[in-house]
Amino acid sequence: MKVFSGAQPSGKIHIGNYLAAIKNWAELQDKNECLFSIVDLHAITVDYDAENFEKKINQLLAVYLAIGLDPEKVTIFLQSEIKEHSELAWLLSTITPLNELQRMTQFKDKSEKVAGKSGATINAGLLNYPILMAADILLYQTDIVPVGQDQVQHIEFARTIARKFNKKFGQTFKVPEAKVLKIGAKIMSLVDPTKKMSKSDENQESCIYITDSEKDIKRKISRSVTDSGKKIKYDAKKKAGISNLLTIYSLFSGKTIKETEKHFINKNYKQLKEELSDLLIEKLSPISKKIKELEGRDIYLKEVLEIGRKKAQKIAKSSMETVKRKMGLSIN
Ligand code: TYM
Repeated sequence: MKVFSGAQPSGKIHIGNYLAAIKNWAELQDKNECLFSIVDLHAITVDYDAENFEKKINQLLAVYLAIGLDPEKVTIFLQSEIKEHSELAWLLSTITPLNELQRMTQFKDKSEKVAGKSGATINAGLLNYPILMAADILLYQTDIVPVGQDQVQHIEFARTIARKFNKKFGQTFKVPEAKVLKIGAKIMSLVDPTKKMSKSDENQESCIYITDSEKDIKRKISRSVTDSGKKIKYDAKKKAGISNLLTIYSLFSGKTIKETEKHFINKNYKQLKEELSDLLIEKLSPISKKIKELEGRDIYLKEVLEIGRKKAQKIAKSSMETVKRKMGLSIN
């Protein structure tokens, strides 16, 4: 199977990104042909710091490698280095109805946030974001896209566009499928467990970043919002905070939710929080250490991206030729 996914170099990676996406990617790499991109062109659709952007890209690459993506097995590349992503996005935009973009949940959420800031305008890049994402996926004839729940609507969009293109110009693209975890596809904020944990959340207490210190982890988990009850039971509606902590514990320990509930049956919230902090520290500190080591290895990181660029380029070039031919465009 062909697997494609990516993350934006837009902020520190949190345990939601880790559990639902990157850790999951590492598990797929042995049995599949995988491509994982650092999607820098998506990250510039909102306010970003151009001066530090390269550093952010390197940090995300270090995360990919520290979590276990093996550049000998998978293709890791920087989206903007493969021009075909932008080119295909333009071509796909010509068959995309405007209203399909306007109804996307992520567009609505992000544009609301932008609209709230004085003097800020909603740019067309934010609206066209799903088209670029469809181009990323379709360019590589992807079968499976492992993502968190928040990206499922975008994959649905990529499926619709693939079908539409195939119908109009003849069979060209594979119709990809989203792969989401049954439990943990949406890790919630520690401060407000009705909202997803988000890289762009200004309140850093809402996220556990994979590079957080022991002190940060202990503080954030101990202060995380729960409820006034006493029972440690999974109930995402009535006990959102506790259910989120149980989910995180379950995914890091490898126990099912049932086994996790059993483990905490006669314990209180404080004990759950303490055990969860210890587990997070145990699992995240080796990753943090590796990230720090890798961040200093600039030449190696450059090499990884260069090898990935060459591999991705070859596929992208040949896909684009096919697409252009089908659309009656010149390939010169
Ligand atoms: P990004 O960078 O926001 O997030 C990377 C991955 O983390 C998942 N994720 C979560 N999973 C569980 N709980 C959460 N709270 C949580 N927050 C984020 C995301 O679903 C994602 O899988 N648009 C994508 C990047 C992208 C892409 C692609 C992905 C661009 N092109 C092509 C797949 C295929 C994004 O913003 O990811």
